[in-house]
Amino acid sequence: MKLFDETASTPSTDYDYDGMLASRKKNYLPLALYHDKPLHLVKAKDMYVWDGEGRQYLDCIGGIVCISAGHNHPEIKRRLIEMLENDEIQHTSTLYLSRHLVELTETMVSHAPEGLDRASFVNSGSEANELAFMSARVATGENIIINLRHSYHGGTAATQAQCGHHTWRFRAQPVTGAVSAMEPYCYRCPFNQKPDSCNLECAKNVETTIQTATHGAIAGMIVEPVMGVGGFITPPDAYFSEVTDIVHRYGGKYISDEVQTGAGRCGHSFLLSKELGIDCDMVTMAKGLGNGAAVGGVLMKSEVADTLQGKLYFNTFAGDPLVAAQTKATIDIVTEEKMSENAMAMGARIVDGIEQMMHRHTIIGDVRGRGLLLGMELVRDRTSKEHAVEEAAKVMDRCKDKGVLLGKGGLHGNVIRIAPPLTITAEQVDRLLHVLDESLAEVAG
Ligand SMILES: Cc1ncc(COP(=O)(O)O)c(C=O)c1O
Repeated sequence: MKLFDETASTPSTDYDYDGMLASRKKNYLPLALYHDKPLHLVKAKDMYVWDGEGRQYLDCIGGIVCISAGHNHPEIKRRLIEMLENDEIQHTSTLYLSRHLVELTETMVSHAPEGLDRASFVNSGSEANELAFMSARVATGENIIINLRHSYHGGTAATQAQCGHHTWRFRAQPVTGAVSAMEPYCYRCPFNQKPDSCNLECAKNVETTIQTATHGAIAGMIVEPVMGVGGFITPPDAYFSEVTDIVHRYGGKYISDEVQTGAGRCGHSFLLSKELGIDCDMVTMAKGLGNGAAVGGVLMKSEVADTLQGKLYFNTFAGDPLVAAQTKATIDIVTEEKMSENAMAMGARIVDGIEQMMHRHTIIGDVRGRGLLLGMELVRDRTSKEHAVEEAAKVMDRCKDKGVLLGKGGLHGNVIRIAPPLTITAEQVDRLLHVLDESLAEVAG
């Protein structure tokens, strides 16, 4: 099997990898890079990316779950090039009318779960969640937002405070209005139950949390339908109706954080909340929504939106024409090209392949997720479930060396994350599985 296609990209001649890496380490904030020898990616097309030396990789993490319609989709490029060639205005802010924002809003609302009839756009997932928290608080007059342990909702002050990972929280940051409930993590059930006989204690724990850690009323609760950074923890379907019912009984608004699960990745609908019939009051989105553009979105019910009247909410770059056009193009293409159907079929093929590998590789403890948002949890021992942390990093590195990019996550970093563009083909899935199989054998014996 040919792993690299050296002819596909021309390596640049004035390319100084070591100098660039040294400069980045010296001048940029000391933030993590993937891989011991970080990749310098310069070119991308559909499922493939190329580094500065012309090496080709099958991108099975989609630039951290941001590429839904495939890298540089020709129709998205065409629409953007046309706008640039026509000297269309690039910045308007929301204080002027923009045709692109109006059209995007209509399209977004048409994909919303029942009753969510207002949309708004911002620049990231964190900003989308900030806006949702504020709206829940304004609408209810309450302060507390419940989150889940192992959740991730962003890097701004309020969203970081709602993150259930010590690794993503910096010291001395204010944590206000945040209370955590137990995680719906079937593989490591915090109640030591088995999924088929558990009586959904994790869902019931939301009520206990409200009764014991608040004054008995809340502004809302934020839940990822599949917990991305947490390692694609996938709550059972029945979890959602039980939890939305509790949240509403205690006066709160239910926020479905679809930053990772949206954009047609996890079901036949564009949003997983719609597919699962989750009775949410708001949905937040980002990442794959704009196929790589810096965009976040919030859908909400009019009864929540109406309470925002009378104050000024301004966001300078929100919904600017190029980003709005790219976002609308992404939604159109994902829908018209039936990419969600492919995501469901290819996701099932990946799960099948990994389940077969589980007979050969005891290091695989669990495989889970929905559609093309899949996690493979690695453990040193299936009984003790000791986290295979170094092994996960090695598997990711080996796969990279063999030309396949993957991510990793989970509280301890032992979950391999697979989230390719929705355009992946059966042949590419088989290549991913082959490379994974080889890498697991090399790392775990
Ligand atoms: C579920 C979820 N919510 C919110 C965010 C924050 O999004 P952003 O990094 O665009 O601010 C992320 C980012 O990874 C996420 O995974």
